[in-house]
Amino acid sequence: MKRVKIVVGNWKCHKTPSESVEFVKELKSRLQGHTGCEVGVGPTFTALYPVGKELSGSNIALCSQNIFWEKQGAFTGEVAPAMLKDCGVKYTIIGHSERRQYFGETDETVNKRLKASFAEGMSAIVCIGETLAQREAGKTNEVLSTQLKGALADISGADMVSRLVIAYEPVWAIGTGKVATTDQVREAHAHIRAVLNELLTPELGETVRIQYGGSVKPENATEIFAVENVDGGLIGGAALKADSFMAIINAAK
Ligand code: 13P
Repeated sequence: MKRVKIVVGNWKCHKTPSESVEFVKELKSRLQGHTGCEVGVGPTFTALYPVGKELSGSNIALCSQNIFWEKQGAFTGEVAPAMLKDCGVKYTIIGHSERRQYFGETDETVNKRLKASFAEGMSAIVCIGETLAQREAGKTNEVLSTQLKGALADISGADMVSRLVIAYEPVWAIGTGKVATTDQVREAHAHIRAVLNELLTPELGETVRIQYGGSVKPENATEIFAVENVDGGLIGGAALKADSFMAIINAAK
């Protein structure tokens, strides 16, 4: 089964709206005529609208870093699905470990956000991953199964096949420069694939893409992307500069 790789820059809390627009202008021109893998960028909420306008009709997908599950209402500070869709968002990034760690995200809220995203016709990148303590306690697979099954509770097989991407991001490898070894990546991705096959069917499970995230850099991208069941990357720090992001995109082709 041939899955098209997907490389997404998660900008986290970086770049003002003007800086974001400048950046995607450059990216757009450097990616003209680009094929071979899917590319996306995830600016902050305030930059989504202008960046979406800039990317309209381009080969770069707009991604949001979160999504609220209610349609609208008295929920100060939240951003509803239709508001993201209207900006041109194609993928919502859900359940990032920083959201889980600092903002109380749980498997249950991840599941609500995922349902809201699909209901609005957007695709989603669901992030899962173990902490160092969980890995050292031999609980990696158990944690990944729980997070995955919690996120995907009551999600239809059709939505999973057509709109879902999973990002495996070991928490200890995020922003630390400590990239997982290819063996660790292979094992985790194989386990995630097995859970997807169990939730769907082996045939359909094979169609869902699994990104790796955590200290991916131009220097290690080729090696990581060559690992079985690695279908691209979710890139933090190295996605903030056009040169390094382009190098990672080229490694995925
Ligand atoms: P870094 O690439 O900076 O380690 O961040 C990874 C990440 O969290 C992407 O979502």
